[in-house]
Amino acid sequence: MFNLILFGPPGSGKGTQSERLIAKYHLKHLSTGDLLRSEISRKTPLGLKAKTFMDKGFLVPDDVVVGMIDYALDNSPDVAGFLFDGFPRTAIQAEELDELLSGKETCINVMLALEVSEEELIKRLVKRGQTSGRVDDGNEIVIKARIKEYHLKTAAVADHYKKANKVVMVKGEGTVDDIFERLCSEIDILMKEKNC
Ligand code: AP5
Ligand code: MG
Repeated sequence: MFNLILFGPPGSGKGTQSERLIAKYHLKHLSTGDLLRSEISRKTPLGLKAKTFMDKGFLVPDDVVVGMIDYALDNSPDVAGFLFDGFPRTAIQAEELDELLSGKETCINVMLALEVSEEELIKRLVKRGQTSGRVDDGNEIVIKARIKEYHLKTAAVADHYKKANKVVMVKGEGTVDDIFERLCSEIDILMKEKNC
């Protein structure tokens, strides 16, 4: 298996690049943001609870998202690997993910971390907010709260994987095509190494 985390702050292009990467490498895309929005649109109890955090730009409690990932891993047999997008987002989630994967005799092969300036992140999310209907893109106060959560709680996830020497920084500005090329060239090198 080849398991990768596409990491980066809100608006860094994780979702955009994930769509292309899963098509090229046949990985199973696991985006906790997408899974949570699906729960919200179906008005499930989990979705209704998550919405109270998401609409304010705050992270949803760890047990909720870890439970969703645990379930998704168990229900994805025979895949070439997983692309994690927007997960793990806290040090606890990273530890839980490592345990879940080790229970399946696999591991995270690499974290590709998209670097984008804060000015560019805000510009992208404000622009999307004009059409997306996503409540958390709707105003700059919530967008800034999401970026603050990233610095407070999520940046630590990169430190977790840096200790295992599994983080590769990738410039996340420029055209979508150029960024995709940068990501692919890293993946192509890493796929040849078996580091689990
Ligand atoms: P989530 O859905 O994960 O959102 P996010 O990480 O805050 O940010 P986005 O998904 O909006 O950005 P992205 O990096 O995917 O960029 P995208 O490709 O969309 O999480 C939402 C919420 O759910 C969280 O705030 C939290 O409440 C909760 N949640 C989710 N996971 C959780 C977890 N593990 N633990 C706890 N809570 C969790 O691009 C953004 C925009 O930029 C798009 O309009 C795109 O078209 C544009 N764009 C992309 N690339 C480029 C480019 N190169 N140039 C110009 N524009 C570009
Ligand atoms: Mg996304």
